[in-house]
Amino acid sequence: MNCFYLKRLSLPLAAFVVSLRAVIVFPFFILMQVHENISLKSFNTFGLDVTARYFAELQSGDQLEELIQLCPWKEHPFLVLGGGSNVLFAENFPGFVLRIATRGITVERETADYVYVRAMAGEGWESFVEYCVARNLGGIENLTLIPGNVGTSPMQNIGAYGVELKDTFHSLEAFEIATGKIHTFNNADCRFGYRESIFKKEAKNKFIILSVCFRLTRTNHSLRTDYGAVREQLLVQGVQNPNIKDVMTAIQHIRRSKLPDPKVLGNAGSFFKNPVMEEDDFHALVHRFPDMPSWKSDTGRVKIPAAWLIEKAGWKGYREGDAGVHHQQALVLVNYGNATGKEILELAGKVRNSVSEKFGVQLEPEVNIAGIV
Ligand code: FAD
Ligand code: EPU
Repeated sequence: MNCFYLKRLSLPLAAFVVSLRAVIVFPFFILMQVHENISLKSFNTFGLDVTARYFAELQSGDQLEELIQLCPWKEHPFLVLGGGSNVLFAENFPGFVLRIATRGITVERETADYVYVRAMAGEGWESFVEYCVARNLGGIENLTLIPGNVGTSPMQNIGAYGVELKDTFHSLEAFEIATGKIHTFNNADCRFGYRESIFKKEAKNKFIILSVCFRLTRTNHSLRTDYGAVREQLLVQGVQNPNIKDVMTAIQHIRRSKLPDPKVLGNAGSFFKNPVMEEDDFHALVHRFPDMPSWKSDTGRVKIPAAWLIEKAGWKGYREGDAGVHHQQALVLVNYGNATGKEILELAGKVRNSVSEKFGVQLEPEVNIAGIV
């Protein structure tokens, strides 16, 4: 069975035929079921009521062989989906959505100072953080409560409360769509930056991340408590000498008080990235807006909070139909119920234009837009 034959069959039928063959050749193969016109409402944290023309789940690495046979990317727009917490569907997805659902966590190696732990891409990020904190493995406790999957975490080098994924990332394994080969990317290969990696640039849409390996501290943890209100929150908890669990609890408390829970109010976290600029440009801007907050980024440039720009441009709490700007955190666009992806995108465009007019700063989306082909 090859793609030539698939062209002449309807995709689900083709998948079925491929699967039957797979059963004969590999008796323990988990069949990949391809569904048609599936609602993605529960698979994206904006809660957008869109459909995928075709939808399947990758539940085991063994199914890659079947995927290669099926090669859905040849015939259709193709989207890899994790937890759907950083994606905005502008419309129904007219192609094939592959949801990553592979699970499993294994300790690969231990040294005197570090433990190397690998998680499959479909493992939930928060359950992975809990697994590590419960075993006193340090380094990702500040990244607690970030929704989504482990496999997506390298895509934008997830970050929060002074820590980024790159600080503990060791390597990942990824399936190259064009060749079917498995590649290993180490930390340098991923070219991590602020909400950036090679997978959002040159390698965009070319790989399916299969698993990620982290190097975590086993005893000498370097706790990061200097960011935002973490220290104050630890004091509120009555903690003088925090361990990694205390830090995780403090950050969970802060995050719950600031960010809307997608189960209650649809959102994808920060819609835009915080702008980073050269010092000269920053000085010109702060001269005009002296109360503008800012901080030095780790590249030596200056980062300013997009939330402040959006709030000062008058958008905080704004609502148009069911699309809105959150009333507590201006960087978060929300779906009050029945907003469409297009409506949220239109609102994002208005916010972006008005920030550009008022401050001369171009906001760049953090959220990945899907569905426009
Ligand atoms: P998805 O939305 O499913 O996918 C995102 C992108 O990655 C898509 O382009 C998709 O095609 C691609 N992709 C997904 N899986 C794979 C794979 N295995 N291989 C290749 N490509 C893949 N982010 C932060 O960095 N810091 C935060 O503090 C933070 N807080 C948040 C708070 C809330 C309330 C919400 C809703 C989001 C927040 N986010 C934050 C954003 C989001 O949770 C992260 O970006 C997360 O890593 C997205 O994971 P996901 O599995 O949901 O990705
Ligand atoms: N602010 C406002 N108005 C608001 C909210 C914030 O003016 O409505 C200003 C305040 O000056 C505040 C500053 O913005 O001090 C920063 O706000 P906050 O600490 O809430 O962080 P953020 O810059 O808005 C970033 C990340 C979050 C991450 C937090 C904590 C980006 C784009 N966002 O938000 O990540 O959780 O810091 O580290 O870098 C995400 O990526 O989805 C995300 C939620």
